[in-house]
Amino acid sequence: MSMQACDLRDDERRPPADELIEIIQRGLRAKPKQLPSWLFYDERGSQLFEAICEQPEYYLTRSEIALMGVHAADIANVLGEDVRLVEYGSGNAVKTPMLLEHLHTPVAYVPVEISVEPLRRCVQGLAERFPTLPVQPLHGDFTRALRLPIPPRVPRRTVLYFPGSTIGNFEAREAAELLRKMRGEMGDGGGILIGADLKKDTATIEAAYNDRAGVTAEFTLNMLVRLNREVGTDFDVAAFRHRAHYNAMAGRIETFIVSAREQKVRVGRQQVTFKQDEAMQVEYSCKYSPTDFAHLADKAGLEVAQTWNDPLNMFSVHYLVRAGTRTREAVAQD
Ligand code: AVI
Repeated sequence: MSMQACDLRDDERRPPADELIEIIQRGLRAKPKQLPSWLFYDERGSQLFEAICEQPEYYLTRSEIALMGVHAADIANVLGEDVRLVEYGSGNAVKTPMLLEHLHTPVAYVPVEISVEPLRRCVQGLAERFPTLPVQPLHGDFTRALRLPIPPRVPRRTVLYFPGSTIGNFEAREAAELLRKMRGEMGDGGGILIGADLKKDTATIEAAYNDRAGVTAEFTLNMLVRLNREVGTDFDVAAFRHRAHYNAMAGRIETFIVSAREQKVRVGRQQVTFKQDEAMQVEYSCKYSPTDFAHLADKAGLEVAQTWNDPLNMFSVHYLVRAGTRTREAVAQD
């Protein structure tokens, strides 16, 4: 792997403390109270998320890996030759190599990641495996406009790879906005390869977010540990509970941090009161049927060119292109 010079600063996904406190105060003034889900991912939170992916109930990661095992070669054929692959998030040690292995003469691989260490690890991990692949890591927040590095040669197309169902953590309007931003970045002939969890029975989905070992609960409550450490709040973590339930009407898991008793919490100079059983919303994990996803893509000026499912139909990966640009051949096959 040839790695282009890149500026990897030791900067994390953490706004300055005063900004963070404002975000938290605003969220705790809202009715109902809510905090953004990106607050989960400090170092411990990222470790816990990796542990979630290993839990027997959390079918998403296993299903996506199974999907790639069956379909990666076909996906690579659809993407075609001379692709520049830009991954939103640093490359997953299992899924990304499964795709890279099959790509035909890729021009470059560009992992985009806000945290330096995972980005460094991703680059190192791929170096041994793909010694001739040019890797151009980009340190930054993929929800903002990206300035992609100049590729080593002209790609036939830029494909943005967004695996892992992270799109599900955005509310419908934000998800469409993000896809629209991606549509701009991929350019005219480009595409988006994106993972999305499929709708299925409530019990299976709810079990995935309420694992028996309690890893997801620890992941959720770690947000409070992080806030106590980083901005000096005094949440009594033992007095809060994790709750995740599937809202079938909205098609999403809704995760809350619930106060086990009436209590007050100091947040900067303010005191925030929690009633007993008051629930603070911290994450949505949206589930998409193929029709739902086509509708979302449409809102962003995109269309689904192809979809692959894992053998158990738990998870899907879609290839999106600009609306109206699918080949006549593909349309005829529908
Ligand atoms: C990162 N994201 C796709 C996970 C999900 O399934 O929504 C985050 C997660 N939250 C609880 N468990 C997993």
